[in-house]
Amino acid sequence: EKGGFEHFMLKEIFEQPEVMRDVMRGRVRVEEGLVHLGGIHDYLDRLKQAKRIVICACGTSWHAGLIGEYLIEEFARIPVEVDYASEFRYRNPIVSSDDVVIVISQSGETADTLAALRLAKEKGAMVMGICNVVGSTIARETLCGMYTHAGPEVGVASTKAFTAQVIVLFMLAIAMSKGRTISHEEIRLNLRELAEVPDKVARILEQNDAIKEMAVKLKDARNALYLGRGYNFPVALEGALKLKEISYIHAEGYPAAEMKHGPIALIDEDMPVIVIATRDNTYAKILSNIEEVRSRKGRVIAIASEGDREIERLTKDVIYIPQASAAVLPLLTVIPLQLLSYHVATLRGCNVDRPRNLAKSVTVE
Ligand code: F6R
Repeated sequence: EKGGFEHFMLKEIFEQPEVMRDVMRGRVRVEEGLVHLGGIHDYLDRLKQAKRIVICACGTSWHAGLIGEYLIEEFARIPVEVDYASEFRYRNPIVSSDDVVIVISQSGETADTLAALRLAKEKGAMVMGICNVVGSTIARETLCGMYTHAGPEVGVASTKAFTAQVIVLFMLAIAMSKGRTISHEEIRLNLRELAEVPDKVARILEQNDAIKEMAVKLKDARNALYLGRGYNFPVALEGALKLKEISYIHAEGYPAAEMKHGPIALIDEDMPVIVIATRDNTYAKILSNIEEVRSRKGRVIAIASEGDREIERLTKDVIYIPQASAAVLPLLTVIPLQLLSYHVATLRGCNVDRPRNLAKSVTVE
């Protein structure tokens, strides 16, 4: 049942190229510049006219929501707020019928996300869902939505469901911008980038052994810091969550520029810092963030773009990922972080598929 893999988590990480193709199948037509999302087709106009979009979710799904914010604001130019479902529901939020609320949930059963959805409905918002489990409570109670089609996710640490959620949000952002905010040519370019992601992910997975070597350096750490900027900031949060939930090493994700506002005080020779330093418009800035870490003797592991020689001047520990446009980068940069946490946890003898204190779906509030 684990398809020859030692754990479900590893199987699910390796399934991602195929899952990504499934998510896009029948929905993306690159050359025509078309995205077809059957589940929301009848509501797309209303979505395009939304004054504001609020995304509610928990955990890893909330991280996908943050990437969704960047994508929708960049492409569709509609303001987006991302909230923890648990915070949204308890603070008497301002929501009206001008708003669209998108709830994201792999299981479709998360209690706080379900309560946020019911509250948003009560306040008159149009509520859309992005779920993986077909027929789940959240999928049934939303007005419309999209399934991620990632297949059953058994490992408690979410991996393939996360990348599937990001792809759905990417397609949604493109569908919302069509004919409004970006040109036909830009749409084609972006869809082409998206369509190339599965093959690029497959190439990253080929580096599994090298990533395992890198994990040896992390396995005895007591803390770790993950840094990223722009589209890679939510990936830093996700990388840190993956590490803490299955290896029990304390980890924090930060937008790299925030480091100097506090966390930099933590950095010494015992602090591994995982920096996502891909070639995008934040590259020069992130290099100086790496210098700041190094000058305090922090140990840097970098995720960088293929062909980047500059980074090697700063650290020998580099995992390379194929080049891609900024908007699809999270789908690539998260892969080595998933593998890294998997290997660190197994090296520490942890039960990767069933980490202590965690359940696959959190139906208590
Ligand atoms: C992390 C993880 C959790 C879930 C969260 C929301 O790996 O799995 O943080 O993402 O409990 O679950 P869903 O998406 O089912 O609502």
